[in-house]
Amino acid sequence: MTTRKKLIAGNWKMHGSHAANAELLAGIAAARPFVAEVAVCVPFPYLSETAVALAGSDIRWGAQDCSAHEQGAYTGEVSAAMLHEFGCRYAIVGHSERRQYHAESDQLVADKAKAALARGVTPIVCVGETLAQREANETEAIVKRQLSAVIHTLAHCAGEMVVAYEPVWAIGTGKTATPAQAQAVHALLRAQLAAATPHAAAMKILYGGSVKPGNAATLFSQPDIDGGLVGGASLKAADFIAICRAAA
Ligand code: 13P
Repeated sequence: MTTRKKLIAGNWKMHGSHAANAELLAGIAAARPFVAEVAVCVPFPYLSETAVALAGSDIRWGAQDCSAHEQGAYTGEVSAAMLHEFGCRYAIVGHSERRQYHAESDQLVADKAKAALARGVTPIVCVGETLAQREANETEAIVKRQLSAVIHTLAHCAGEMVVAYEPVWAIGTGKTATPAQAQAVHALLRAQLAAATPHAAAMKILYGGSVKPGNAATLFSQPDIDGGLVGGASLKAADFIAICRAAA
């Protein structure tokens, strides 16, 4: 069996301030070492101070989006090349909040993932179904369609992305997918990756959606769950540290 190093990535979403970030980052850094790889995905304006606060530590930082374009007249966009200059290791792409509120299509998400990889930034590609889709038994079709666009666009580089399964109904709701529900989808995603790339067994598939200190260990013990993408709980140092430690 392949052993995959677990990854715990905090997604701060649109939260933070100079003072709050300094305290949170110092708290996380002081709790090292972690067995798992740990990363924080912060709002764009805070990348620079995050890089400074985490310099010399093995905690990585990332962004929550990136442009599909290299450069040009795209007001408000941030390119993968710019992220790379800040030392960004990861960029979340296709988060359900961007698909929902910014009408991001499967193909746009795939193009963003490709743009990130082209500049040495690993995309964390989010997929997940809504409650209505789950209740209509469409979960498998939805996540496969979302992932398939990325697999086709990345082609021989597909093995380099990180995938995150985030059921939309579990995000910020306090409702977590049961470990069995999550594992079932992760296994489907891994099988889909295996049909496309020889690296599927080594790829990380994270779970996201109300991951908390109390449920992290059981989720992370599932065979195809390789860590978490953590929203709300990543804003509290004690909770985030506990989740990182649950991924041993
Ligand atoms: P919560 O952990 O707040 O449910 O958010 C999950 C998420 O969207 C991470 O990207």
